Amino acid sequence: MTHIRKATTDDAGLLAGLAAVTFPMACPPSSSPEDIATHLVNTLSERHFREYLADPDVTILVIDADGALRGYSFLVNRPAEDPDVASALKVLPSIELSKCYVHPERHGLGAAAELMHASLQVAAEAGAAGVWLGVNSQNARAIRFYEKSGFRKVGSKSFRLGTTVEHDFVMERSVG
Ligand SMILES: CC(C)(COP(=O)(O)OP(=O)(O)OC[C@H]1O[C@@H](n2cnc3c(N)ncnc32)[C@H](O)[C@@H]1OP(=O)(O)O)[C@@H](O)C(=O)NCCC(=O)NCCS
Repeated sequence: MTHIRKATTDDAGLLAGLAAVTFPMACPPSSSPEDIATHLVNTLSERHFREYLADPDVTILVIDADGALRGYSFLVNRPAEDPDVASALKVLPSIELSKCYVHPERHGLGAAAELMHASLQVAAEAGAAGVWLGVNSQNARAIRFYEKSGFRKVGSKSFRLGTTVEHDFVMERSVG
């Protein structure tokens, strides 16, 4: 049976495995495999997920398909530090949807919409008026998905991946 639930520290290893499959899909074709591998080791390893899951400001939701993880979202309930983001946001207080990744087996099947719905609900329950996210400006599929999910572009920011600086759109929507 497939259901969406909050992740626990027991999920850290499976989350790292899922991140290794899905993070490269969010990168532009110009990203080097070395930079992607370094980013995985430096921020998306099992050890990192254990730390994230212990952080009271972080909520990770997972799509659990009989124990296999087929998607995850990552919400951060902290004021945006990036000045480009802080100046772009209109709906405050806002929670960051820092990651929204679905396993390719489940793309185009509505799983991402269900994960988004649950993520917006978590944000509303935490008292947020808005949700914001950054998405690579070349990730047309994700941008389309976020627009379908009610997000609008409100600005842009930079994201360093190894030796290159990537450009992200900042998108937001209201909740609740
Ligand atoms: C982003 C993601 C969660 C969306 O889930 P999904 O199941 O693919 O979403 P949907 O199929 O509901 O919506 C995608 C939309 O993009 C469209 N699309 C697909 N490929 C596209 C492309 N190359 N260019 C433009 N639009 C595209 C689809 O047709 C669909 O729009 P439609 O319903 O109007 O036809 C999922 O694709 C994913 O995990 N991707 C890899 C990781 C990633 O990029 N995450 C986001 C990081 S910010």
